Amino acid sequence: MPDLQNLAYALTQVAHNFGAAAVVGGAVFARWPARQARELRRRLAWLVLAGWLLQGASGGAFGAVSYAYYGRFPDIHGIAVAALLTKMASAGAGLVLAAAYLKLESGWTEARRDGAWAGLAALAAIALAAAAFLRWFS
Ligand code: HEM
Repeated sequence: MPDLQNLAYALTQVAHNFGAAAVVGGAVFARWPARQARELRRRLAWLVLAGWLLQGASGGAFGAVSYAYYGRFPDIHGIAVAALLTKMASAGAGLVLAAAYLKLESGWTEARRDGAWAGLAALAAIALAAAAFLRWFS
């Protein structure tokens, strides 16, 4: 049933695309074009945390759909494996950093908060760049 399979991939991709937009956009907007107020930054941190969770879940769902239809995971090698591992590591680190921000930022200096947002933006950019390599080397 190729239509159902395509629908499952497409819906997974919808979640994955919006998750990518949330982690990249949320982190960038917290700092640029101007540093946002502390309360707004906390809300953005929740958005970014939800985005990283969604990326992990929808990334796993891609694998689950493939497994459900083919009985195995896609056979990827080399650069594609490195890109996938990079995305998974970014998602894990982004999740931890966003959660740490929400729990600890009240005791942080402004410079430290800026550093955390720069880290979140960098992780999002790395994952988004890795996505292109996963797509075209697999
Ligand atoms: C646990 C983490 C992740 C896993 C397991 C994962 C897995 C996947 C898989 C299997 C695909 C389909 C690849 C293909 O079409 O060949 C995909 C696509 C994509 N992923 Fe992820 N991903 C993860 C995290 C992320 C993150 C954090 C971002 C961005 C910030 C991201 C952005 C994208 C984008 C933009 C695509 C579409 C690429 C395209 O078709 O051009 N992913 N991901």
